[in-house]
Amino acid sequence: MMDRVLEPELMEDPEQAAAYAAADFSQENQGFVDRFEEYFPGFSGGRVLDVGCGPADIPIRFAMRYPSCHLTAVDASAAMIRLAEQAVSQAGLSDRITLQCERFEAVPGANVFDAVLSNSLLHHLPHPLHFWNKLRQLVKPGSPVLVMDLLRPDSPEEAQAIVNRYASGAPAVLRRDFFNSLMAAFTEDEVTTQLARMNLTRLLIDVIDDRHWVVGGTIY
Ligand SMILES: C[S@@+](CC[C@H](N)C(=O)[O-])C[C@H]1O[C@@H](n2cnc3c(N)ncnc32)[C@H](O)[C@@H]1O
Repeated sequence: MMDRVLEPELMEDPEQAAAYAAADFSQENQGFVDRFEEYFPGFSGGRVLDVGCGPADIPIRFAMRYPSCHLTAVDASAAMIRLAEQAVSQAGLSDRITLQCERFEAVPGANVFDAVLSNSLLHHLPHPLHFWNKLRQLVKPGSPVLVMDLLRPDSPEEAQAIVNRYASGAPAVLRRDFFNSLMAAFTEDEVTTQLARMNLTRLLIDVIDDRHWVVGGTIY
């Protein structure tokens, strides 16, 4: 098995953030919101947190799908939050999506949110258990959690093949980031071990395609 190769935690370079925001993740991001609906059919709204929101495409889609929720979307990259502010304002959702430029570790409170979302954040983190721990602290008991991320391939060659398969026409900076993200991602076994160590036994992992895993369930 290939070891993880960490990439920089925050996406602070404006060029990098702009390339990411301009990329078309509509299928993946709408798929995330659709999956939330499928996993949690009884969910109707409330206070929702998106951890590592990037350009806020998922919070925007989520807010449109659930008109009675208010989202707090957190990212510690100022470049990303600037792009998120533009997108949220263009979508006319500034009153329902609050953007915060801060590390998720610094989000205050306990038992605050009625749902927590996170896509493509975990692979950035040197200490993934801090994330699961914070998640448990912030979510109200019994509330839904949906976390998705990339799956680490077995070799750099396989990572390159995935980049070529899904991002052949993408700008070089995006292809580089995609490759680095795959190299930094966790395996299914590693995520399962993280959940077991945190005793988050109601969160279940599913590998949904050749490059993504999803963890969903409720936290008590
Ligand atoms: C690959 S992007 C994913 C963005 C978005 N969730 C999406 O699905 O498109 C990961 C984001 O997490 C942010 N990030 C990484 N570590 C963070 C931390 N400790 N606290 C807050 N944001 C963080 C990065 O700045 C980056 O914008």
